[in-house]
This record gives sequence, structure tokens and C-alpha cells, in this order.
Amino acid sequence: ISLATKAIGNKIRCARIEDVVGEVGSENVQGEMQHRLDVISNELILRCLGDRDNVGILASEENETPFLLRSREEGGRYAVLFDPLDGSSNVDSSVGVGTIFSVLRLPDGGSREVAMLSPGKDQVAAGYVLYGSSTVLVLTTGNGVDMFVLDQSIGSFVLVTKGIQIPSGNKTYSINEAYTEKFSKEIQQYLEWVHENDYSSRYIGSMVADVHRVLLKGGVFLYPPTKEKPEGKLRLMYEANPMAMVIEQAGGMAVDGSKRILEIEPSGLHERTSVILGSSDQVGAVLQHCS
Ligand code: AHG
Ligand code: MN
Ligand code: MN
Repeated sequence: ISLATKAIGNKIRCARIEDVVGEVGSENVQGEMQHRLDVISNELILRCLGDRDNVGILASEENETPFLLRSREEGGRYAVLFDPLDGSSNVDSSVGVGTIFSVLRLPDGGSREVAMLSPGKDQVAAGYVLYGSSTVLVLTTGNGVDMFVLDQSIGSFVLVTKGIQIPSGNKTYSINEAYTEKFSKEIQQYLEWVHENDYSSRYIGSMVADVHRVLLKGGVFLYPPTKEKPEGKLRLMYEANPMAMVIEQAGGMAVDGSKRILEIEPSGLHERTSVILGSSDQVGAVLQHCS
């Protein structure tokens, strides 16, 4: 993942020079326009991870079906699910974008495809890389959250913070507020409440960048269902689950409005979910309006 994301980071930073910005003209499995960098990032991850002896399955936002690479007997111990380029519609304007990944262990017997659809609480590792003003790798293997920054001069991710804890007491919310009329009554009431209670708003529109700010500074990030997207927009397996593991491992909360995201029993690789995550106090403030 570190090799692939270093390569993706370089492609993003040179995208204008190499003229690889813009849409390719085809839709991905989500029915969303693919950007050229979506395709390039996906291929880089597939190539880097596909060669690893212990990777059994690779599953991407950009591919309808997972790649079944190696059986358990052939050494395929892990499934890696990923969003190769998150926030790709922002990339043409040089806004921070990212890569999100989730790692599940494959069982000795049984169907690999079924095992891949495990709830997020079974993840053995998760994290993201943010290609922002610096390139940051945030990683959890179930024992806290560590942050690495890419040192361009040596080409390595260097550990800068161990055991990140998400701060509380930050009255900042992050939501696409233009959808207010399309949200549920509960979310509309929450938004009225924040307006009356000295909150500040921050929304980039790249989940990785928004969640990274929330992880470091505190606050809450929301992508609730809308009238057009009654399931929510964000994908459970390679957006919500890995971010939920990171946030919980940092002492925060990640829910869909009624339960922990990590406890959702997935029904499909590309299923969507509502997302409310961040500092426990701020997620709690949202939930007070939901009950
Ligand atoms: P992706 O680029 O992987 O399709 O993800 C885009 C997502 C996510 O990054 C962000 O939180 C959300 O889309 C923003 O959606 P809106 O423009 O509807 O706010
Ligand atoms: Mn995404
Ligand atoms: Mn994406």
C-alpha cells in the first residue's frame, strides 16, 4: 500500500503536467463518472498488491466484482478492499484527495467471497493516505492509530504520531449542508440546533480530507441519507468501515444513525450506508436529535 500510494501521490502532483486530469468518459460500477486518475490509481494498487503472495482477494470501488487471486491454500491470507482515489472530482482543482483501504483476514475454509463480506469489526487493519499539503498515511491494526508523513527527500513514510486520540469539545460539523431540505427531520433539527449553539462548519467534499481534519482536531463528519440517496452515498466496505475503525481506535464514535457502522452485516461489496463519525461528544450531540 505504501508503494502504491507513493506512486499515486506522484501521479496526482504531476497530473496537470502529464495531462491526466478530467473524466475518461465511462462510468464505474457506482454509475459515477470515472476520472483518469481513478483509473490510474486503481491500476497502481492492483499491480502493487496483486503481486503480494499473501493477498487472496482485491476489491475496488472501481470494479464491479472482486479479483480472486489466491486461495487460502495458495497463501491468500488477506482480502484488501479499497477506494483507490477518494474525492476524485476535486483533483482537477488541486484539493486534497486520498486512498482508503480495509484489510480482512480470510478463513481457512468456506467461500472467500462470503468471508470478504464480513462486518467492519472483523477488519485486521484499515487506514487511508491523504494527498494534501503533505502526504499522510494513517494506519490502525487494531491497537490504536498511528500517523506517518511521506518524507519526499528519502521516499519513505516516517512515523510522526503514535496513538492518536481524537479530541473532544470541538464544536465543528462537516456536512454538505446544501442538501438540508433532502435530509431527514432529525438531521434538519440537528442543523437548526448547531446554528443556535455557536458551531463552526468545515466541508471539503473529500471524505479522506474531512475525516483527517476531524481525527486531528475533533468535531463530527456526517453524510446522512438524502431523498435521492435513501441509503446514503458513502460505501460501507471501503469508505465507511475503514474510517469507522480508525475513528473508534482513536477513541471516537462511528454510527449510521442507530448502530455502530462496524456492526453492520454487509450484503454486497458496493453497498452504501449513512455515516456519522467523529469525537464521541459531537456524535452524541447528533444522536440526541435522532432519538
Ligand atoms: P469518490 O470520489 O471516491 O467517489 O468519493 C466521493 C465522496 C467522498 O469523498 C465525499 O465525502 C463525498 O463523495 C462528497 O459528496 P457530495 O459532493 O455529495 O457532498
Ligand atoms: Mn470515495
Ligand atoms: Mn473513489
